[in-house]
Order: sequence, then C-alpha cells, then structure tokens
Amino acid sequence: MNISIIGTGYVGLVTGACLAELGNTVTCTDNNHEKISELKRCVIPIYEPGLEELVKINVKKKRLFFTTSVKEAVNNSEVIFIAVGTPSLDNGEADLTGVENVARNIALNLTGYRLIVEKSTVPVETGKWVKHTISTYIKHNIKFDIASNPEFLREGQAINDFMHPDRIVIGVESKRARDILASLYKPLNAPLVITDIKSAELIKHASNSYLATKISFINAISQICEKVGADVVEVAKGMGLDKRIGSSFLNTGIGYGGSCFPKDVDAFINIAEKLGCNFDLLKAVKEINQQQKIFFLNKIKGLLWIIKDKAIGILGLSFKPNTDDIRNAPSIDIIRALQSEGAKIKIYDPCAMEKAKELLNRVRFCKDPYEVCRGSDCLLIITEWDEFKELDFFKIKKLLKRPFIIDGRNIYDPERMRKLGFTYAGIGRGGVLKR
Ligand code: UGA
Repeated sequence: MNISIIGTGYVGLVTGACLAELGNTVTCTDNNHEKISELKRCVIPIYEPGLEELVKINVKKKRLFFTTSVKEAVNNSEVIFIAVGTPSLDNGEADLTGVENVARNIALNLTGYRLIVEKSTVPVETGKWVKHTISTYIKHNIKFDIASNPEFLREGQAINDFMHPDRIVIGVESKRARDILASLYKPLNAPLVITDIKSAELIKHASNSYLATKISFINAISQICEKVGADVVEVAKGMGLDKRIGSSFLNTGIGYGGSCFPKDVDAFINIAEKLGCNFDLLKAVKEINQQQKIFFLNKIKGLLWIIKDKAIGILGLSFKPNTDDIRNAPSIDIIRALQSEGAKIKIYDPCAMEKAKELLNRVRFCKDPYEVCRGSDCLLIITEWDEFKELDFFKIKKLLKRPFIIDGRNIYDPERMRKLGFTYAGIGRGGVLKR
C-alpha cells in the first residue's frame, strides 16, 4: 500500500520504518525541515535499537521517503496516519493544536478517497473533531474515512513491539476502512480488536493509565514493605504469579516517567473531570508517583544527613534503559532537588548525556561509572541499564569516599552488596536505611 505518516516523532518514525519493512511504500513527513533533511541522509534523531538499520534498508530499497510537504504525502498515499505530538497543557488537558492543523492541511490537499488514521494518543472524541475539521475544509465532495489505530510500542523495544504486538486495535465506522487496515496489518498475524472509534481511543488512554496504576500500586506497597521490614520484590513475585494479576509492570522504583504515562494520566484525569466522572483513583496514581521521588530523596538524606557539599554519583539519566529520552525522567527532578540543597553531582549514562547537557547545569558528566564513583560520598542507581548490573564492585568500593549505594531500581541483590561491604539500600527491601 501507499502510506503517509504525518509527524515523524518516535511513533511516526517507527511506524513508518516498520510499515516500509512490511513491503509498503511509506512517505514520512514533518514540519521540522532540519529533521527531514537529516532523515533523508538516514541520520536518526533518537536512539532506538535497530531503527537506524531499518531506516537505511528501506530508504535504499526505495520503500521509505521523507518530505516536509503534506501535499506530497497526501497525494502519494491511500492511508494517512496522523502521528503528531499531543503535549500537555498546564491543566493536564492534551493540546490538540497539532492534530487540528494536520486535519486542516489534509483536507486542503485531498484529491480522492483517503483513509485518515489517528495514531497519536488522543482523548476520546478526537476522531469526531478530526472528521468535522476535514469536512469543514475539504474543497470538493471527496469521500474519506476516519479511523483510530492507537500504538502500544515502548521506547527501547519499539521495533519488536510494533512487529510483534499483543493486539492491534482498529476503531472504524465503515467496512472500507476496516478492510484497508485489516489487510495492512495482516502480515503481523496479531489478534485484531475491531471496534468503534471512541472505544479505540479509550483503549489507549485506559491501557496507559492502568499500567501507571500498576506501577504506583507496587510503589505504595514498597513503602509499606520498608516500614515493616518486608521485601517488595518477593511481594511482587507472589502477586504476579496469579494469572489475573500478571507479573509485568510490578517493578518498584523511583516512579514512572517518559513522554507517555505522566502526560496520559493527566489527560485521562482531565477527560474524566470534563465528563463529570469520578476518577480520583488516577489522581492518587499521580500523587504516589510524585511521592516516590521524595521517598528516594529521603533515603539519601537518611544516609548522608547533610546534602550540602556532598559529592553524589549518579548512574543513569534516561527515564528507562535503551533510550536517550529524558522527558519527565525522574533523574532530572532528583538531581535538581539535590542541587538545591548544595550537592555536587557527577553522572554517567550510556546514551542520554548529550540531551541532559541541554537541561542540567553545574553537573559533571563522566566517561564511565568508575569516574562517577571516584571520591563520591554515595552512589545512586537511577536507570537500570544492563551495563550497571555487572560492575567491578571491588574497584567501586575503593573509589567511593564512603561505600554507600542507594539503588532506585533494585538491580542488585541486597545480601550480595552487604557481603561486599557496602551500606546498600534498594526500594522497599529490608527496612529503612540507617548508618
Ligand atoms: C508506554 C507504554 O508501555 C506503551 O505501551 C505505550 O505505547 C507508550 O507508553 C506510549 O503511549 O507511547 P514507554 O513510555 O515507552 O511506553 O515506557 P514503559 O516501558 O511503559 O515505561 C514507562 C515508565 O514506567 C518508565 O519510567 C519505567 O521505568 C516505569 N516502570 C515500568 C516502572 O517503574 N516499573 C515497571 O514495572 C514498569
């Protein structure tokens, strides 16, 4: 099929590259001229394992094209995906200015039937507004369909998630739209959930909010575990083996971050409020997520007492491993809070340091974990990158001024760390840390 993707951010670029890999001819468009000219040279603006190779192969095979012209994209395709950003406004509501602009632009350039698909995460009833906008601006009596096809890929494993989804959600109002999308996704051989547009839109917000709820739930449990000296990892394991609960997204830590969960929980709270529905549960999810960072900061204070002039070494900046994304990363809030109390911060992250340099001041970026440890009063684990899991702890113990480790992601075995001579604390494991 001939497909165009409007908005070449995370979701747009991965979707475009993967659909090209499935044999379609894909035109990706974006109004960021610099990004498009880099993409034409196969320079990828984000770090995502496997994406660069996929883009290179498909550009070479002439299945993947980049342009800044919406007109060109609309002309060249029978299916148009809208994948522009939907950032949060101050009140938590999703800002749909980008979606409206694109809808208008598509309408002005339509020359024949097109299926217009919402791929961005949008509030329920956005499809209705997209349809209304296109109908308002369309020049001739041209037929078109609207569909909702939310994406569930995760950063860091985006290609695998796209190619092997648990399900594909298709919200449609016509047989023609349904047949086009069912045939587009046939090669993925995944279960299809074919429904109406509003239900499809809700599935995305409900799924992300539910996953965020699972994380906040286990984070709240981790606080209880610390009070009574229980181990949250054991509790999560015992819960997760119940098939009705499931073991994924029960890893406690320093709270969820990224460009999706914080924004989508806010948007869903806003939607519920507008509709007059009580969804205080989600407000609590958000609150617990905030508290978890404070909980972590209090652990550091419990260990170091005075933060002023202490050298604090940090491993990990990205909101999760295998990405350079630091949007809403807990690391940024934690570093700023420590700096506000006068700490000297040293950091290492395998991928995210370039992006962090634009956000953080008065921070020393180090070449590896050992440089971070040299002379530091304590070491914090913020992101669970694989390379932090197996370090030379004998070396680390010698380099640290004091052998203190606070592990915000529970990547180490507490018993092993104590045997190695560290004063070690994870999250929700084995009681409150005391010197
Ligand atoms: C999330 C969803 O998982 C995807 O399905 C969805 O498509 C995407 O948002 C989106 O809406 O675009 P993503 O934000 O890439 O994907 O990352 P996740 O792997 O879900 O992690 C989100 C945050 O939750 C991270 O900060 C992670 O550290 C945290 N997390 C995750 C936990 O603290 N504990 C867990 O058990 C799992």
